[in-house]
Amino acid sequence: MKKNIPVVSDVYRKRREILAKNFLASNEAMLILSNPEKLRNGLDNTYPYRQDSNFFYLTGIKEEGARLLLYKNGNGKVSEYLFVQFKDPDKEKWTGYRLGIDKAREISGVDAVFYLKDMDTYLSMILNGTNVLYINYNYGSLHGFKDERMNYIEFLKGNFPHISIKNALDILSKMRVKKETIEIKFIREAIRITKNALYRTWRKMRPGMYEYELKAILESEFYKQGGEIAFNSIVASGEAAVVLHYNEAEKQIQDGELILFDVGAEFGYYSADISRTVPVNGKFSQLQKQYYNIVWQAQRDVMDMAKAGVTILQLNDIAKKTLAKGLIEMGKIKDENELSKYYYHGVGHHLGLDTHDLGGGRDALLPVNAVITDEPGLYIKEDKIGIRIEDDILIKRNKMINLSQSIISSVDDIEKFFRR
Ligand code: GLY
Ligand code: MN
Ligand code: MN
Repeated sequence: MKKNIPVVSDVYRKRREILAKNFLASNEAMLILSNPEKLRNGLDNTYPYRQDSNFFYLTGIKEEGARLLLYKNGNGKVSEYLFVQFKDPDKEKWTGYRLGIDKAREISGVDAVFYLKDMDTYLSMILNGTNVLYINYNYGSLHGFKDERMNYIEFLKGNFPHISIKNALDILSKMRVKKETIEIKFIREAIRITKNALYRTWRKMRPGMYEYELKAILESEFYKQGGEIAFNSIVASGEAAVVLHYNEAEKQIQDGELILFDVGAEFGYYSADISRTVPVNGKFSQLQKQYYNIVWQAQRDVMDMAKAGVTILQLNDIAKKTLAKGLIEMGKIKDENELSKYYYHGVGHHLGLDTHDLGGGRDALLPVNAVITDEPGLYIKEDKIGIRIEDDILIKRNKMINLSQSIISSVDDIEKFFRR
């Protein structure tokens, strides 16, 4: 077993209670589907499995092929059912152990646990008396990724035409946006692992190495500490850093370049998301320093304004003002309208079980205990410079707490680090 922060089934039980009490009306049900396994190649070579974050949030179950069904009847009484894969000793010789009913009950705190093969009986029984069914599925084909679970939803629509199917993510988003103490602990641990991995990588970094060598060091350090990789690590030197999601990591790093690391460990299913941009040879050039300090200042200005009641959109406007002011002073642009040539993403997003976490839109007011990223950047292709600095911040009533403050980011601290 990997080291972990212990979580008891009460945590999941309480979340389901809150959900049913506050968000389910009488004769409404919610069906939460686990993520399907994804084929990588061949007939049976799959990607490493990762549970759907909503499913995990409500059950603690990491196994595929599981379903959670919640139902509030006409009298307001709530029933919970969990369905898991059959525990077949012969199959387990190939696939590893399945939880089975008792273990699934112990982890999730759901009393009524059954095998998946029995689900249709319970589902039909409940859906016959249900007006609204919430299911977790990705909105539309956001970013072009079609959610395979849509096929199942079509099947349900065909068989239960009286039911209105709605997206459970609208409800889960309202809950997941406010992080509980235990969730903040996990995020902090993911950040700690990311920090160690970054520092250990930087100590081994030399001009002439390839980006993939650094990526390998970094990711092996995640694993060594009991973490996983939360998202595709970005290790981008020189001009490669102007591509926001540069994943190739195939370039040889050159003396005099900046290198951008946008990386995050996952720990206990929670993500860190940290960007640091450092000079390959340990010292910023004058021009690099000028751009860098503009981004750094934009990040501080966002931190100064970040608190409950503001929106991510407002924080982005603050970042844009500072970035534009800096570039105007350098004579790079004439007014803020030209900034989009050098800054072409948003300043942040919610962070939690997903790196781009549920939590409402960019114009939603941030609540106390939201965790978001603060990640302005400048990307100047003609100078072969891409800079992003990203910290993970916890929103409080009148301020924010920078959870990744201890990961150095000022020019002085970075140059000092590399002088050692
Ligand atoms: N690493 C992805 C992001 O910063 O949003
Ligand atoms: Mn990032
Ligand atoms: Mn981010």
